[in-house]
Amino acid sequence: MPKALVVYDSETGNTEKMARAIGDGIKAAGLDVEVKHVDNTSLGDLAAAEAIVLGSPTYFSTMSGKMKAFFDKSIGLWPGKPGKLKDKIGAAFTSCGGGEGGNETTLLSLIRAMLWHGMVIVGHQSGFSGAVSIGAPDEKRLAECRQFGERIASFVKR
Ligand SMILES: Cc1cc2nc3c(=O)[nH]c(=O)nc-3n(C[C@H](O)[C@H](O)[C@H](O)COP(=O)(O)O)c2cc1C
Repeated sequence: MPKALVVYDSETGNTEKMARAIGDGIKAAGLDVEVKHVDNTSLGDLAAAEAIVLGSPTYFSTMSGKMKAFFDKSIGLWPGKPGKLKDKIGAAFTSCGGGEGGNETTLLSLIRAMLWHGMVIVGHQSGFSGAVSIGAPDEKRLAECRQFGERIASFVKR
């Protein structure tokens, strides 16, 4: 069965809640899924997944330093080497503070990194480039995250 990987950074738990809801949506759509904190994720995990969903808190309008440091290591998987990420499905999500802005640029920072590898990006249908929560995700946001997970899974199954 195709496997999806949701990798997140989260210091105060908001992005983690989104990650788990997206994972639930992917699972409900019939895919195997692993939801992992970036500290516990390896390049082998990226290489083994058919879909990679990256989530980060919005830090100064971009991804967190931890997520950037982790994804920088993915240069070791670049095209031409075994386990390359080319043609894998990718998607992004972020949690941000109230009214401070920067969530869309954070999504784009994650998406750009995946595009560099030649990954194929699935956007969120609500008008954002990925899933966003301002502060802790409420039930409505969590439902959107689950729908986003189902949407990502539908592209993996095509
Ligand atoms: C270093 C730092 C930078 C931040 N920069 C922004 C920002 O640019 N825009 C924003 O809306 N929130 C910003 N925030 C708030 C976080 O994005 C927000 O609290 C988020 O929900 C934290 O996610 P987490 O609970 O997964 O750690 C920042 C927080 C920190 C600690």
